[in-house]
Amino acid sequence: ESIRVLDVDGYYFPSFQSIIPNQEETIRSIPTWKAKDDDVLLCAYPKSGTHWLWEAASMLLNGSADRINLVKATAMLDVIPQPMYENIKSPRVLNCHMYFRMLPEDFVKRKCKIVYILRNPKDVAVSFYNHHFKLLEYGYSGKWENYIHRFLKGQVDGGSWFDYTLDWEKVIQDNPDYPIHIISYEDMKKDDMKEIKQLAQFLGVKADEELIKRISEACDFERMKKEKYALEIATAEVWRDKEPGIYRKGQVGDWKNWFTVAQSELFDAVYAERMKNSKFQFRCMV
Ligand code: A3P
Repeated sequence: ESIRVLDVDGYYFPSFQSIIPNQEETIRSIPTWKAKDDDVLLCAYPKSGTHWLWEAASMLLNGSADRINLVKATAMLDVIPQPMYENIKSPRVLNCHMYFRMLPEDFVKRKCKIVYILRNPKDVAVSFYNHHFKLLEYGYSGKWENYIHRFLKGQVDGGSWFDYTLDWEKVIQDNPDYPIHIISYEDMKKDDMKEIKQLAQFLGVKADEELIKRISEACDFERMKKEKYALEIATAEVWRDKEPGIYRKGQVGDWKNWFTVAQSELFDAVYAERMKNSKFQFRCMV
């Protein structure tokens, strides 16, 4: 029962070596990739809502609620080859699951804007379990009751949710002048218009009420799932039963359907210990 990952200097990348030629070499070259001043980068632990925010941010920068005719994975630093990265049309909305210290140096030098996305880690764990189970490249068909321990120990691509989240919190604290905007999945679910409006402000995009409303509607889970399906299906063979699994449930609190009381208590105990000095805790454990 293992999950196939690519260990590069202690950080676990998703291993897509049968799809991406020279994946490790490509990863090692990321720090030297060139940025553009208007690049925007979404950073998040996997399964925190990156597809959703990528769609909304891309629409804002395009000034239109027309469907983005690309899949998010084509702009994901950790899994695309450099030529593909260089060919993305500006303004680029890039995304990754990497740590701040692993980003292209030029990107940080230019202070390109970063949007950091948070999600309740119990929902993340459930979403990630389904992801690992369904995406065949991981070679994983383990059970949830075992997976939860693996997740808590960080034996997955992206490593430990706790390490990742605490590191970003420290980066944000230590770099008050760096433009980093925090969004949580739960806040988006509660009032997406409000969050999209704030995102527009952060991105320096003028968006009137009508555009925000149309983007909110276009990014609604069911609509996005339906309209993105045709694009996702192009890679259907990488999914179990040829069923693209990115748009699964799209809800807050689905963890309650998966965790037993004992599993939840174990998770809470680890959370309380690891996150005891974190200010994020009140934002994401809703
Ligand atoms: P679930 O597995 O809980 O359904 P990421 O994009 O970072 O990989 O995260 C994927 C999670 O975001 C999945 O969660 C997915 O269903 C959810 N998601 C994707 N698009 C969404 C949308 N438009 N609205 C709400 N949730 C969305």
